[in-house]
Amino acid sequence: MSEDSRALSEQIMQQVAAEVAVCTRCMLHHSRKRSVPGEGPVDAQIMFIGEGPGFHENEQGRPFVGAAGKFLEELLASIGMRREQVFIGNVVKCRPPNNRDPLPDELAACSGYMERQIQALNPKVIVTLGRYSMGRFLPNAKISEVHGRSFQIKGRLIVPMFHPAAALHQPSLKPSVERDFATLPEIIAGATAAPPQPEEPQVENKKEEPKQLSLF
Ligand code: URA
Ligand code: SF4
Repeated sequence: MSEDSRALSEQIMQQVAAEVAVCTRCMLHHSRKRSVPGEGPVDAQIMFIGEGPGFHENEQGRPFVGAAGKFLEELLASIGMRREQVFIGNVVKCRPPNNRDPLPDELAACSGYMERQIQALNPKVIVTLGRYSMGRFLPNAKISEVHGRSFQIKGRLIVPMFHPAAALHQPSLKPSVERDFATLPEIIAGATAAPPQPEEPQVENKKEEPKQLSLF
């Protein structure tokens, strides 16, 4: 990643975080304590997208810091990764009251933020955690049928997985989540060879500006 590209990506991520901190686009802003924009390095190769902040996330303004987060960290450790190396975010940035499911209008209101984050990071692989995050990319899929498989969508690999919290509530899902995670290193390695993404931030335009100006 070039220095220009990194600076631009960082700028977009900071801008999104600043906007969600004061966002009133959906009802969820009434009950939030802190919005949770998501976090991770801009050169992360992999992006994990969960559902929405829970109690602890709402308190701290950080994603996956409760029980589900602990399990996610264990899963990452099982493939030799740390959370600092990946981007972790959610489809809604504010906590739904009592952790209820996000509503369609809330998902729609918030989706532009995630879209901008995806464009800015341009990850090789996106792992969706849970049904709502999967629904963004594979609207008609059934998670029980597609989890752990990779789908090429708009030039990017999407890998749907069960939500770690689901596996904590339903221990029978745990081995399946662990197996799905075990395949990730290979998927990431395979994705490295993919052609450049069309959504790469347009730093070239910036560089060309002086040249264009000199024409006048
Ligand atoms: N569950 C989620 O989907 N996201 C979080 O950030 C925490 C728990
Ligand atoms: Fe805005 Fe998203 Fe929070 Fe709704 S959930 S208020 S759209 S940041």
